[in-house]
Amino acid sequence: MNIYLIALVCIGGSTLILGLDNGLALTPPMGWLSWERFRCNIDCKKDPKNCISENLYVEMADMMVFKGYKQYGYQYVNIDDCWSEMSRDSNGTLVADRERFPRGIKWLADYVHFRGLKLGIYGDVGIKTCGGYPGSLNYYQKDAQTFAEWGVDMVKLDGCYASMSDMATGYPQMSYYLNQTGRPILYSCSWPAYQVEARIVPDYKKIASYCNIWRNYKDVQDSWDSVEDIMDFYANNSGHFAEVARPGQFNDPDMLIVGDYGLSYGQQTIQMSIWAILAAPMMISADLRNMKEESKDLLQNEMLLRISQDMYGIQGKRIIKDGNVEVWTKQMGINAKAVAFAFLNVGTDGTPVEVSYQFSRLGLTEAEGYNVTNVLEEKFFGVLRPTDYVNVTVYPTSAWLGYADFDC
Ligand SMILES: *[C@@H]1O[C@H](CO)[C@@H](O)[C@H](O)[C@H]1NC(C)=O
Ligand SMILES: *[C@@H]1O[C@H](CO)[C@@H](O)[C@H](O)[C@H]1NC(C)=O
Ligand SMILES: *[C@@H]1O[C@H](CO)[C@@H](O)[C@H](O)[C@H]1NC(C)=O
Repeated sequence: MNIYLIALVCIGGSTLILGLDNGLALTPPMGWLSWERFRCNIDCKKDPKNCISENLYVEMADMMVFKGYKQYGYQYVNIDDCWSEMSRDSNGTLVADRERFPRGIKWLADYVHFRGLKLGIYGDVGIKTCGGYPGSLNYYQKDAQTFAEWGVDMVKLDGCYASMSDMATGYPQMSYYLNQTGRPILYSCSWPAYQVEARIVPDYKKIASYCNIWRNYKDVQDSWDSVEDIMDFYANNSGHFAEVARPGQFNDPDMLIVGDYGLSYGQQTIQMSIWAILAAPMMISADLRNMKEESKDLLQNEMLLRISQDMYGIQGKRIIKDGNVEVWTKQMGINAKAVAFAFLNVGTDGTPVEVSYQFSRLGLTEAEGYNVTNVLEEKFFGVLRPTDYVNVTVYPTSAWLGYADFDC
């Protein structure tokens, strides 16, 4: 049989977009976001290298290029809270802090574009941002236009200082006005996270019709407890949000804290593996200027990122929790017949565990067998059939990530 014919038979998938149609986030967005690592540090006199300023974003854009992140697909350089003046100008337009962003956001967007990257910015659906800066309530149209004029490529709209009904009108309105600018702008909504906090079950299908990505749960903190809690929330999948994920619309478990202070290397392998399996946005919040080599290599693991960026955009799930062992899987690859799988040892007692599962139990059913790769060690593991067992050792609070390729 002719090779082209094989390719056609194999590919046959479709990427039907039912939600917001702005052509963006067809795979989970990748980039860098200042919040978790740099917070609302605005003291540029005392801490000029780390304060929220033009200089910080310029240096991160440079690092994205010179340390190779861009080449691996990291694209967005995103500003978070605390970038603006405390009040709008006399025309009601948002203005960047004049000391910390002396050349304004348009200049910064031009710089980031010159590096071949994209710029994201932060706003709030309510009267103020979480840090107390001007929010977009009553200014949705104006702010959407301002962001578009500046050349912004992504907007994260937070939900502080807003009622549930402000959110119900504000998030869709901002979506409409962003669309009306004519500039494709990736739209990140914090809407469901605030609903979950208020014990309201979000209408995820509706949210997906207005937003490209959305935060479901608490902010990530620089600790293993925080990452584990977020993973449990995603494993529980209450409200069935996993089923809504697809190209153009993804759940967002928040930033990668790989390369920060709080996680051991093993714990970093867990966050990377699970975020890839969840088809989560891969937004690094760490200092790219002094990243440990092992963390950089993990952030730049090519096959792991291929799992994250699979074109089907299927959100994986936790399929087994057995004491300290968890198994997570994601359908992907040709006809979604390939599978990424992660074995986690979430035990903190120091004991490595030997895991052994029959391959069919992980949803691997093709009788001809699969080529299996040990993704974190970047080496071939073996050929396994559904009746074979996969036996591996998983170290405490670490992941073993596999990719089973079905060669059709
Ligand atoms: C605006 O929405 C329309 C209809 O969904 C879509 O076709 C178009 O590409 C959108 N434009 C932008 C800039 O997002
Ligand atoms: C307000 O808008 C007017 C008319 O577009 C413009 O001439 C003026 O410079 C603006 N003022 C500020 C502070 O941007
Ligand atoms: C997940 O579900 C379990 C069992 O219902 C519950 O105890 C736990 O609190 C939930 N965790 C999160 C983060 O939602």
